[in-house]
Amino acid sequence: MTRPRSISHDFTRREFLSVSGASALSLANLRLAQGAPTSQTSPAPGAQTAPPFSKDFLWGAATSAYQIEGAAREDGKGLSVWDEFVRKPGKIRDGQTGDVACDFCHRYAEDVAHMREMGLTAFRFSISWPRVLPGGTGAVNQKGLDFYSRLVDALLAAGIAPVATLFHWDTPLALHHRGGWLTRDMPRWFADYAVVIARALSDRVTYWLTINEPRSFIGGAYVTGVQAPGEKRARAEYMRAAHITFLAHGRAVQAIRANAHQPAQIGYACDVSPSLPATDSAVDAAAARESTFASPLDHFSGAHWWRENAWWLDPVFLGRYPDAALTALGKDAPEILPGDMETIRQPLDFLGANIYGGWLVRASANGEFEEVHFPAGFPLTAFGWQITPDAMYWGPKWLHERYKMPIFITENGCSSRDSVSLDGKVHDPQRIDFTARYLLALARASREGVPLLGYLHWSLLDNFEWQEGYTQRFGLIFVDFPSRRRIPKDSAHWYASMIKSNGASLPRLPAVAGLP
Ligand code: FCB
Repeated sequence: MTRPRSISHDFTRREFLSVSGASALSLANLRLAQGAPTSQTSPAPGAQTAPPFSKDFLWGAATSAYQIEGAAREDGKGLSVWDEFVRKPGKIRDGQTGDVACDFCHRYAEDVAHMREMGLTAFRFSISWPRVLPGGTGAVNQKGLDFYSRLVDALLAAGIAPVATLFHWDTPLALHHRGGWLTRDMPRWFADYAVVIARALSDRVTYWLTINEPRSFIGGAYVTGVQAPGEKRARAEYMRAAHITFLAHGRAVQAIRANAHQPAQIGYACDVSPSLPATDSAVDAAAARESTFASPLDHFSGAHWWRENAWWLDPVFLGRYPDAALTALGKDAPEILPGDMETIRQPLDFLGANIYGGWLVRASANGEFEEVHFPAGFPLTAFGWQITPDAMYWGPKWLHERYKMPIFITENGCSSRDSVSLDGKVHDPQRIDFTARYLLALARASREGVPLLGYLHWSLLDNFEWQEGYTQRFGLIFVDFPSRRRIPKDSAHWYASMIKSNGASLPRLPAVAGLP
């Protein structure tokens, strides 16, 4: 099980998605993936005319601070674990860093203009904790705070709702040296940081996300160690880090609510990989649903880390860990002090789901579930991730059933091998096709009554894709990294026209099982 482009032989989520013979796609999806081309920008004859999404549905794009900002050592910013990690030999593809990245700190006005042209109504960005609090706690770096204030003003002037994430993996290095996510001081430090941000921005920011993808973050940081700070810890330690991360989430929600200048809409951005039914049968759908929220012990080791969903959602939305997980973990389960679960389970306004794909599952002869292998030659993104649009139907549907929350798709997208063509444009039909398929699945969930706040495409810009450096282009806008010049790709134009129709221009796929 090797993956040619991986820096480490440990399993990252990406590697796991790409090489697992047990990953997922339903037969409906398979027909979709092999079926009609969907890259047209206008409705096909007989296309849907009524918009499948509510009229206030938010259409946007998502980013994160370290992946786009640059200005890594400017204007008083402190260092994060990523600033240090990227300098370690062999950790990042081609030895790249996020020192300059997309240079967003200096070019945000140009990027906001692109967003306005595309008709985006929401933009998700994250705040770099050490840019605002260089030491993680204590003195505020006003220049850092001012940057986010200017960005928020520019977004609002363009009619774009800011969606602010407090933490997208760039832990202040100073706090890492003081124990970071392994110390129970971290939730308090995170809450103090949340107070600073809420006081400064909540007069203009309504939508908040606390922590991006705790599952991926703990997995990369402490389980496989392929992401900053690059540690491989014992299971009891990384499960403790998970518990501390949940506590930090809860404390931050309390801090925002207590300090917001106006009612805040607060959510939590979790990466979710649903199991997908292998056929259209009701028994396989039931098996896939059960598998999606199952918590066997192997979900808590590096190899199957990115399969677990319930552990990362139940405490936040239901106030308890899955019993099966606690039993399986035994002495490696985190210590839960009185009051912890109450702190973790704060009232939230929505569930943020980052959905890229899922696994294929069917009912087994003994009435349980079993995985089904992908057929040979199955469609993949440039990253090697299987293209499984059904994840965008079953994921939101089951998340809503279990947690009773409105769903906000806070990330979805694909990397492709984009380059500038002789005509000076960037043609990315794969991204258009990918996005159309996933949005059709989301439209199905919407029609069946799943409350949806919006869809944020990952990403606005090609950017620094963590340990993969600049090799995985996820943007709707191409970035020529030597010059940092931006070129909206074909997908940006397609996305703009789709937004204009509120999804009504999505192509209709002929006779695809499982789609209306
Ligand atoms: C998500 C991360 C985001 C980006 C995309 C491709 O897991 O939240 O930063 O890396 O994957």
